[in-house]
Amino acid sequence: MSESTNHSFEEVQNIAVIGAGYVGLVSGACFASFGFKVDLVEVNATKLAALRRGEVPIYEPGLEGILEDASADGNIRFHASSKELFAVANPEVVFIAVGTPENPDGSCNLDYVFQAAKDAVEASKEDVVLVLKSTVPVGTAQKVKDLIRELAPKHKVAVVNNPEFLKEGSAIADFRRPERVVIGGTEAWALERVKSLYRSLLHSGHALFVTDHETAELSKLSANLMLASRISLINQVSRLATAYGADVKQVEAVLRSDSRIGSKYLYAGLGYGGSCFPKDVKDFIHICKEKGVDASMAETVHSFNESQKLFFVDDLKKSFPKPAETTVALLGVAFKPDTDDIRESPALVLTKVLREAGYKLRAYDPKAIENYKTWMVDEGIQGVECVDSAKVALDGADVCVLVTEWQEFQRLSLGGLSRLFKGKKLYDGKNVFNPTQVKSWGMDYMGVGR
Ligand code: UDX
Ligand code: UDX
Repeated sequence: MSESTNHSFEEVQNIAVIGAGYVGLVSGACFASFGFKVDLVEVNATKLAALRRGEVPIYEPGLEGILEDASADGNIRFHASSKELFAVANPEVVFIAVGTPENPDGSCNLDYVFQAAKDAVEASKEDVVLVLKSTVPVGTAQKVKDLIRELAPKHKVAVVNNPEFLKEGSAIADFRRPERVVIGGTEAWALERVKSLYRSLLHSGHALFVTDHETAELSKLSANLMLASRISLINQVSRLATAYGADVKQVEAVLRSDSRIGSKYLYAGLGYGGSCFPKDVKDFIHICKEKGVDASMAETVHSFNESQKLFFVDDLKKSFPKPAETTVALLGVAFKPDTDDIRESPALVLTKVLREAGYKLRAYDPKAIENYKTWMVDEGIQGVECVDSAKVALDGADVCVLVTEWQEFQRLSLGGLSRLFKGKKLYDGKNVFNPTQVKSWGMDYMGVGR
């Protein structure tokens, strides 16, 4: 592996991105804002129609403006298929950013990745680099290469890994100011071509790691396992803090002051959610087992996280033993603030468990409520009232559970809150309120480890 700072660049003008989801759309839009001509493929007809109308089908701060500018500059277009794309464009690099959903056994479903690769190879006419942007199990690039060999294209087709490290909610900044760019592959011309795309970033001193395929793939999975394990560890600490009446927030502050430990990914809460940590940890476990490697560390990170999502449930059931007469206000259903994404959100598990127990639920989220409604329809869940504001959610409720730390919840006046909701027990799933202040307004408080 080499960590390079001097780069020589081949000029690339045209980029394609297959999959206009949270990762693909942000990546495509950011590349277009660097001046590249970007063509995106999106198979979902509803999303595609919205994109063509100039609407953004997901909520990601800053994305709308970038897409508007890119389309005004004529730098971005949307297509229904690779065939349609290659009929009008000739991209030198094709990013594959399609979903990689989880199989029932915890393994990663690569069907969309393989299909996207096959479609791009069959539609392309000139030398092209396929870049795996979606998070994939170790060994995937090799499988894509085998697939290409079978297709036997007449021109050169190379495969390169370039994993994404974007955090939803701050994905634009993460793309434009990455702490590092990882590029994995074996063919020098293809590696140079992909490196050239990051020219403006790399010249500002960001680290570039050029590795083989397997190392790049493992680096991405390991980064997410490492971050997820920190969260499970601090959540483990939060349980002991609860048992002893210690304050996990203060423990976190002490830990952060140790430069060996570092300051990030150390806040306790209702467990990690999202489209990456849960899936990638399970994928890590799965590929360990395939190779006969002991996966017990990663297994514990995962199982601990699952139970952490239910941290408040026992206390809530004990404190409010008559579910049919208890209204629970859920503040936030997104897996984190500044996104409309609900994938693996603790709110989903809480909704299921509390509804099964017979509690009445009222939910509010500034951006994610439509996705939550769709999820409930898919799951056949009824009896949850979705409302338009935190105030309406709290009005007359018996219990409040804060799941997502949106700024607007953190700004709620405790006085107003205590007048609104009659049950007066606040479960603070992200430790954003000050327990003493909450109690001074006559409300009961339970945080995660404080
Ligand atoms: C995806 C992967 O799931 C994740 O592993 C990776 O790290 C980043 O990319 P994300 O962008 O959040 O994550 O997924 P999603 O928002 O579901 O976007 C995927 C998009 O690809 C969807 O819009 C889907 O319609 C589209 N798609 C899927 C295609 O265009 N073609 C396909 O064959 C399959
Ligand atoms: C993550 C990775 O950070 C990113 O690099 C990768 O490419 C995709 O997955 P994302 O899932 O979008 O990004 O959000 P992130 O901010 O990392 O949060 C993930 C989950 O961890 C959220 O549910 C969040 O609430 C939780 N979390 C995070 C904690 O519970 N405690 C923390 O200290 C940090």
